[in-house]
Amino acid sequence: MTDTTSSASAPTPAAKPGDDPFRALGGPLIRDIWYVAMTADELKSGKLYKKKFLGEPIVMGRDGKGAPFALRDVCPHRAVPLSAGQMLDEPDGGKTVECPYHGWRFRTDGGCAHIPSLVKDQPFDLEKIRVRKYALAEQDGLIWIYMPTDPAGEPDSTPPRFENMVLLKGQTEAKVKYVQRAELACHQDHAVIGLLDPAHTPFVHKSPLWRSSKTLKEKEKHYAPSEMGFTMLSHKPVNSYIYNIIGGEIRVEIQFLLPGLRAESIRNEKYGFLGLAAITPIDENLCEIREIMYWDVPILNLIKLIARPFTHTFLEQDARIMKLQGEGLSYNPPLMQIPDADTLMVWYRRLKREWMTAKAEGRDFKNPVKPAVLRWRT
Ligand code: FES
Ligand SMILES: [Fe+2]
Repeated sequence: MTDTTSSASAPTPAAKPGDDPFRALGGPLIRDIWYVAMTADELKSGKLYKKKFLGEPIVMGRDGKGAPFALRDVCPHRAVPLSAGQMLDEPDGGKTVECPYHGWRFRTDGGCAHIPSLVKDQPFDLEKIRVRKYALAEQDGLIWIYMPTDPAGEPDSTPPRFENMVLLKGQTEAKVKYVQRAELACHQDHAVIGLLDPAHTPFVHKSPLWRSSKTLKEKEKHYAPSEMGFTMLSHKPVNSYIYNIIGGEIRVEIQFLLPGLRAESIRNEKYGFLGLAAITPIDENLCEIREIMYWDVPILNLIKLIARPFTHTFLEQDARIMKLQGEGLSYNPPLMQIPDADTLMVWYRRLKREWMTAKAEGRDFKNPVKPAVLRWRT
């Protein structure tokens, strides 16, 4: 499988010696993997949600037991979106989705349950009619969706669990304390690279809470490969306003996992915070990003009440720069990478290539990232 730019008309510049041969970004989206579809709180019982992931129309809801379900949002009769219909309660306690055009009803497993226009003695096998069903998992307050290459493809793994997930006392599932969502008008690859990019922070995210671009400091970060990505190893961070709120002996660790998950864990002797950024492609030119936060730090419950404008600004700053980048990318220019600040981008491309190649060849994924120390000024 190759990764080429979406615009076929402009020539791709030849790779120079030392260049990563996998230079083109914006190629096929990563499949055969779990994506964050939404948070569990967003998905209310009794309602239908019209979604699009990786360009596929999807309707989501909850079944009679409250478990999430996802079906292709195209009625097999005459293609009306099922999400425009309604959820019905069936006598057996189950739920069905009723198409708004001719009232065909579908179970939450995708099977057809009822066609109102059929009369009693008309022979017709409802079992032959199916809407495609997607595999979902509900875990740590998130609904994950598995997006296979082959429509019949089934997950061979469960969604990732993060190191240092913050569990409240006596609970086995983490509770989402805060979430913020934004749309990024770009290809998933650029959104993920923007998420990983250390060098943009002082320029894009100017804020009184962060240091400005005038006071760049040299940093040295230690990285190691993980099961599906790489981790900036646990370290004592440079002092900042945010860390001072939590206080104590702070340790920070940042994990990156395919397809586009970045989990930042901040801990002191007593408390923990985990900020998960999850990027999910809506289609080839648009993604959504969620900043999902877990914590057991009491003071954050108070700060949360006033934090929304700040986190909103943060995401909007990324959204703005992605939109601007889109202007330039429309001319299909060659892109550059420099040491060491762009190394994470190179790793992402290698991880993506290996994931897609391994899936296409039906073999296990072998992480191509090696342990490394990276240095930059940010
Ligand atoms: S289009 Fe859905 S029932 Fe006819
Ligand atoms: Fe950013």
